[in-house]
Amino acid sequence: MYKIAVIGGDGTGPEVVAEALKSLRAVEKKFGLSFAFTDLPYDGTRYIKTGEILSDDELNGLRAYDAILFGAIGHPDIKPGILERGVLLKMRFELDQYINLRPVKLYPNVDTPLKNAKPEDIDYVVVRENTGCLYTGMGGVSQKGTAHEVAVQEMVYTRHQVERCVRYAFETVRKRHKAAPWRGLSEDQKKKGFIGKLTLCGKTNVLTFVYDLWQRVLNEVGKEYPDVVTDYVHVDATCIYMIEDPARFDVIVTGNMFGDIITDLAAVTQGGMGVAGSGNINPEGVSMFEPIGGTAPSFTGLNQINPIACITAAHMMLSHLGEDSAALAIETAKIAVIQKMESMLAAKMGYSTTEIGDMVAALI
Ligand code: IPM
Ligand code: MN
Repeated sequence: MYKIAVIGGDGTGPEVVAEALKSLRAVEKKFGLSFAFTDLPYDGTRYIKTGEILSDDELNGLRAYDAILFGAIGHPDIKPGILERGVLLKMRFELDQYINLRPVKLYPNVDTPLKNAKPEDIDYVVVRENTGCLYTGMGGVSQKGTAHEVAVQEMVYTRHQVERCVRYAFETVRKRHKAAPWRGLSEDQKKKGFIGKLTLCGKTNVLTFVYDLWQRVLNEVGKEYPDVVTDYVHVDATCIYMIEDPARFDVIVTGNMFGDIITDLAAVTQGGMGVAGSGNINPEGVSMFEPIGGTAPSFTGLNQINPIACITAAHMMLSHLGEDSAALAIETAKIAVIQKMESMLAAKMGYSTTEIGDMVAALI
C-alpha cells in the first residue's frame, strides 16, 4: 500500500488534483495497487483563517508518506512569497527534493506555437536543480527604502549539490534510452555507440564561479558515462534552440533559476501550462509531484481548467514509485483523451475539467 499525501492547495489546484485521483483510483483496481490518500489543508485559505503555514511538525509528518501529490499554491489576497516560501519551497528544501524533473513532450493533436514542430521534434527532459542557486534566500538588504538601498540575493551552489544533480541527469539519459533512444544525436554519434545526450545549460561566460563549477563537475562525472554525449549551451542560446531546434535536446541539466525560466518556455512549446507536469524528487526520500501551471485564479471553481498536467504529475509519481505499467496506462489513456480535446487551453477544451478526468479514468 502506498501512502499518498494530497495537497490540493489554492485556486484550481484542488480541481485538477481531484481529476488526477480518478486516474489513480482506476489503476489501483486494474493493477492491484492500493493507495491511501490523505488530504492535507496546507494552503492559502487556511493561512487566511488561522495564520498557519506549513509548520515544522506538519513538514515532518510528510516524511511518513511514499509521495506527495500537490495542486498549486498562491492566493490573490496574500503577499507574494509567503505561501511560496512557506509551503512549496519549504517542502522542496526541507525534504531535500533536490531534482525538479520536467519532461517536455509534444503529444499528437496538441497545438504548439512553433510553426513547423511535430511531436517527434519535441521530446526532452529538463533536470532542474531544486535546492540551491538564487532560491536559498541568502543575501540581504540594508538602508531599505532609501536612495542608497542595497539588495543582494546570492547564487549559491555547493559541489555536493551540483554533483548529485549532474549524476541524476546522466542516469536520466540512460533511463530514457529505452523509451526515447538516441535523442539529439547525429548519425555519426549513433554509429559510435552513444545512447543519448546531456546538455549543460549555464552561463560560463559571465557566471565564472558557479557555472565553471557545474562544467568541471559535468566533465568529471561524465567520465563514468562514456556512452553519453555531453554538450554545453549558454542559457540565452538554450532559449533560441528550444524554439528553433528543440530536437537537438535529450536531457538538459541546469541550476534552479535558469531551470525555472527555461521550463516555462519549454512548457509553452509542448502546449502550455495545461499539459506540463513535474516532479520534485528526492531519490532517497519523499518526492512531490505537481502540475506546473499554478493556481489560475480566474478559472477557479468553473470546471474549465485543464487537468491533463496534474494527470501527468500522477503518472510521473507512479513511475517514480516503480509502478511503470500503471504509469504507462495513465499516460496512454491521457494521450488518447488528448486526441479528442479541442484545445489544451482552459475553457476551450471542448469538455469540462471533470469530463476529462472521467474520460481518462474510463479508458484506463
Ligand atoms: C515553479 C514555480 C515556483 C518556482 C514558484 C511558485 C516559487 O514557478 O515551480 O516553477 O519558482 O520554482
Ligand atoms: Mn516556475
